[in-house]
Amino acid sequence: MPTAPANPRVVSGMRPTGQLHLGNFHGALKNWVDLQFQYECFFFVADWHALTTGYEDTSQLEENTWQMVIDWLGAGLSPSACTLFIQSKVPEHAELHLLLSMITPLGWLERVPTYKDQQEQLKEKDLATYGFLGYPLLQSADILIYRPRYVPVGEDQVAHVEVTREVARRFNHVYGREADFEQKAEKAIKQLGSKNAGVYRTLRKSYQETGDATALEKARALLGSQARLTLADRERLQGFLEGTGRSILTEPEVHLTATPKVPGLDGRKMSKSYGNTIGLREDPAEVTRKMKAMQTDPARVRRTDSGNPDICPVFDLHKIYSSDETRQWAAAGCRSAGIGCLDCKKPLIEAVVTEIEGIRARAKEYEENPDVVRAIIAAGCEKARDAARDTMHEVRTAMGLEYR
Ligand code: TRP
Ligand code: SF4
Repeated sequence: MPTAPANPRVVSGMRPTGQLHLGNFHGALKNWVDLQFQYECFFFVADWHALTTGYEDTSQLEENTWQMVIDWLGAGLSPSACTLFIQSKVPEHAELHLLLSMITPLGWLERVPTYKDQQEQLKEKDLATYGFLGYPLLQSADILIYRPRYVPVGEDQVAHVEVTREVARRFNHVYGREADFEQKAEKAIKQLGSKNAGVYRTLRKSYQETGDATALEKARALLGSQARLTLADRERLQGFLEGTGRSILTEPEVHLTATPKVPGLDGRKMSKSYGNTIGLREDPAEVTRKMKAMQTDPARVRRTDSGNPDICPVFDLHKIYSSDETRQWAAAGCRSAGIGCLDCKKPLIEAVVTEIEGIRARAKEYEENPDVVRAIIAAGCEKARDAARDTMHEVRTAMGLEYR
């Protein structure tokens, strides 16, 4: 029997949109780089998700996938600290998606705000497809199959994690009811040892009688730290704690990524579709040229005009890259016309170029050795599949599908 992982798990994915830019970096990737040292992280290329809106032209899919992986490695994701893989190489995601589709009411998917919004925004595409409606459910399968504690995402993905939680709850409700659940739970409590068993019982009582959320948190943490508990017993004790049946799929929490506003070169949000990006591996001379031409406060026409940093996109970059001191210098100099826009941009250009040079240097080795990248992904896919297979065994067993 597999045992429960002691270090909380984290799962997140990114659609392969081609070479990443500073917006992707500050919006998600940088956060992943930090998380890999705190949790057991699974990060994957959501290539099937790319098909939900881009099913017609798949010619760039593979290239975009490998380029994104190189960006990840360049940005500092380390294959020794986290597991990197490709969604479509772990077909268990598709199996879980299918099984979950049986118990997911259509209304749950139709109600997800991104469903209608995206259809509106991408009018030129026919998104009245089964796959597009199922986008959040595929994402639920991606997540639930690893039974993570946290899912690091930005604000725009919170609704999808919420669906994931509902689906997990429904699955446990439908399939988590063993006939001899209480007896099995009691037996599992004994496995905790007498001290922890006592703590667990007290916390459970406190949660069930008064709804004490800290008691629930503590009891969950206690179960999470029991490395010798079997997976099935851990699920029973979670379900017993929360007053449900056995919890086969665990409800993950959103780990909200603070997403700073990253302005593009034209002042709008940095986005590939606006063509206003600075690439993570772009040539420094090109980065410098682009930044020198970047949109500033439009009212500041001449060097002698004063400006307003509050409405200047360049100043948004100061909020990301500069020290308090530099930021104050820029704001004051702008308002008094004491500095010009090029002076204001100079420390930013330096900071961005330094960051990009670091990424380029790390990425270079991988660009030159594609076999190394493939080997990293192959190893990551193996690890992911091992974890996914464990969950699928439990899922099939609970559903009566694990035929002998
Ligand atoms: N939908 C996510 C996005 O567009 C990508 C994604 C797919 C994902 N599967 C996931 C994110 C699972 C977190 C967990 O950003
Ligand atoms: Fe923007 Fe800086 Fe120019 Fe002011 S000085 S308008 S903050 S670039």
